[in-house]
Amino acid sequence: MASYNLLLLPGDGIGPEVAGGLTVVLDALEETGLATFETETDLVGGCALDAHGVPLAEATLQRARDADAILLGAVGGPKWAGVAYENRPEAGLLRLRKDLDLFANLRPAICYPALADASALKRELVEGLDIMIVRELTGGVYFGEPKEITTLPDGSKRAVDTQVYTTGEIERIARVAFDLAGKRSGRVASAEKHNVMKSGVLWKEVVTKLHAEHYADIQLEHILADNCAMQLARRPKQFDVLVTDNLFGDVLSDLAAMLTGSLGMLPSASLGAVDDKGLRRAMYEPCHGSAPDIAGQDKANPIAMIGSLTMCLRYSFGLGEAADALDGAITDALAGGARTADIAGEGTNPMGTRAMAEAIASALKLRVG
Ligand code: IPM
Ligand code: MG
Repeated sequence: MASYNLLLLPGDGIGPEVAGGLTVVLDALEETGLATFETETDLVGGCALDAHGVPLAEATLQRARDADAILLGAVGGPKWAGVAYENRPEAGLLRLRKDLDLFANLRPAICYPALADASALKRELVEGLDIMIVRELTGGVYFGEPKEITTLPDGSKRAVDTQVYTTGEIERIARVAFDLAGKRSGRVASAEKHNVMKSGVLWKEVVTKLHAEHYADIQLEHILADNCAMQLARRPKQFDVLVTDNLFGDVLSDLAAMLTGSLGMLPSASLGAVDDKGLRRAMYEPCHGSAPDIAGQDKANPIAMIGSLTMCLRYSFGLGEAADALDGAITDALAGGARTADIAGEGTNPMGTRAMAEAIASALKLRVG
């Protein structure tokens, strides 16, 4: 059996706890003989800043380049609120995305049957929900220059962020969305603001042209990003694949996550381009943040982190069978009543992070064993 080299970057806040849950599941995968892993653990974010004075050490970046895949927990927290902008914990995460050129961020929002009542929306609106948000991750306003605060002659200040996209950047993320749609229901919605932003005008133009030339069999809809947010809350099941830029993707994916019951449910894959050998760099992380308010209390939901491992098995290692088994184990554990506090309904006794991971590991062994 092939062995895979994983770099674990637990990070800050609840990161180490959900990464602990991940380790329980990695052990179970090995026990069932589905896959074996060699894991290394390193620091990113605030903990790296405390240890090395920077949120991502060069040696860690090199390890990330060498790994078959990276699994990251979360970064940031109030402890580092006062540090210089360049050194804030999030800068470590953004540097990993940018330096490894992980331009395609896949964020699936799936509503597990057992959780349809945990959603803020009515059951019939979210039951069976299965949306794939494809967020551009290395461009746009996150990285555009200039990005600065300057002081004006009268002493007041002026802040600038720059939204910038090139044809090539839009084309490569749109391809990812169209290719995925081809394996799903064949529908793509592309969200931008061409009514207000030049980058939106170009976005729409490039997506339209690529569609006409190479993906005419896919059904394409253009939607304004604000309307998209409204439609996600109104009738989310109208969407299948949703492609959008870095900032809109950040916002819309938080919204989509809540449709599934909790932000603690949404995994993600950040993928680079496929090289000559058919390999691609990849990092997998839950969409939730470091949740400092519940950190260290064994309360966090590890499902987004474990779901990120499922995506890793599927997209980095081609282990579709193992990924299906693990997805099934999450469904089984939820169906069996396993609930962390974020998804526990009234009258349900919530379990801790570790117990949830163990419930999923046991369900996996039952399925495969
Ligand atoms: C996310 C997060 C990050 C982002 C933060 C932590 C920098 O919100 O992955 O969605 O804005 O991309
Ligand atoms: Mg976000």
